Amino acid sequence: MPSVFIKTYGCQMNERDSEAVAAQLVAKGYSLAKSESAADVVLLNTCSVRDLAEQKAINKMKNLVGTARSEKREQIVGFMGCMAQSRGQELIDKLPDVDLVLGTQKFHRAAEYLDELLAGTRKKIVDTAAEAKSEAAIREHLVNGSAKTSVSAFVSIMQGCNQHCTFCIVPATRGEERSRTIPDIVAECRELVSRGVKEITLLGQIVTSFGKRDIPALDGKSAFVQLLAAVHEIEGLERIRFTSPHPKGYGDDLVEAYARLPKLCESAHIPLQSGSDRILKLMHRGYTREKFLGIIQKLRAAKPNIGIYTDIIVGFPGETEEDFEQTLSLCREVQFDNAYIFKYSERRDTPAATMPDQLPQSVREERNERLLNLVNEIAAKKYDSFIGQQVQILVEGPSKKNAARYTGRTRCNRIVLFDGSVRHQGQLMDVKIERTGSFTLYGDPAVVNL
Ligand code: SAH
Ligand code: F3S
Repeated sequence: MPSVFIKTYGCQMNERDSEAVAAQLVAKGYSLAKSESAADVVLLNTCSVRDLAEQKAINKMKNLVGTARSEKREQIVGFMGCMAQSRGQELIDKLPDVDLVLGTQKFHRAAEYLDELLAGTRKKIVDTAAEAKSEAAIREHLVNGSAKTSVSAFVSIMQGCNQHCTFCIVPATRGEERSRTIPDIVAECRELVSRGVKEITLLGQIVTSFGKRDIPALDGKSAFVQLLAAVHEIEGLERIRFTSPHPKGYGDDLVEAYARLPKLCESAHIPLQSGSDRILKLMHRGYTREKFLGIIQKLRAAKPNIGIYTDIIVGFPGETEEDFEQTLSLCREVQFDNAYIFKYSERRDTPAATMPDQLPQSVREERNERLLNLVNEIAAKKYDSFIGQQVQILVEGPSKKNAARYTGRTRCNRIVLFDGSVRHQGQLMDVKIERTGSFTLYGDPAVVNL
């Protein structure tokens, strides 16, 4: 049977899509190859959010094709996901050795297309058409495929985004918002829990808009909060997370859900993008600095230990030194547990790409570095504040770097390493934090579990 290797770029949605495609192929008799060179089929699941991510996948494909040719190996190669969707046939025109281009609404067709390519009945396949109900087609899981997936799983609840932030290519690559139904999602979660999963992360590009058009609010609770409550009822499930929300989705019903639903972990990744009202408006984000600060305040009032993470873009067109300083001051005020900083990257067919005052790369670099220094300084202080604390972790499995160490996550989503063994896997346990490393906490279970 043919073997396949899938390499993933970008976000957790992409990781989930890759996993679903892999599971689907395994169900059809394919095996998962250990390396690219050992595989009959290599698929690159791509990201278009920044130019760098696209370039990485294109260079990778050039290398793959070159190596296969020099070793005289027959290999089917393809692009899938966001860049496949936005560039389509153009990818084959540019890289004629590419056999398959599979768009973001076509993942469930992977096996069928690969069968045809391997059998030689078709030479090239490009499919980026829209497909109704494709949001519910990503359902297979590779549970028990690795230690980590048996404990923690991702479940895709919706596809697409209608927010149309002016810098963002996602509405073009992922399409209009389309949500699955609550019973369908709950059934998938139940199935995962029956196979040993203890933690579920609900995924979507803008999860707080889940079901907005189809599911009416009930007792002041949005469709998304209704979904959280329904998943919360699953017996045996220990933890619920979600990503990515939009600040405008943090109504009182969601804040209240953190207080009301004990399985909902105290951790939120809320993309800020900028601390300047002027830039937020140009970005079409739909909230102000004050509104954002208000949300953080309410969340911390509901859950004082909540871990708050964010995304920030520096060097958006027209961003002045004053605008940037507003971002710095907001970061000082909020004290994020961590922030992912991105240098603005022009994306084709997005409104921001043609705005006046595109900033030189040197300014983007310089602001990136200044903000990174501030964010890291705050994050390090936050890490150090864990020393001596007792925290609950869910143990995922052996650490990738050192198999004698086991790794787990706190409820606020920090990684903890400890000297563990296979008997700890999948357990919820308490550890005492002894020291910190770069973005890691080191814990000792013996101190608490005598
Ligand atoms: N809602 C999705 C957005 C995906 S993009 C999510 O939060 O996962 C992830 C992050 O990439 C965004 O929050 C933004 O900070 C950054 N980003 C998006 N488009 C960008 C662009 N054109 N240039 C630089 N960073 C960008
Ligand atoms: Fe992109 Fe904004 Fe949606 S960042 S994914 S358009 S919320």
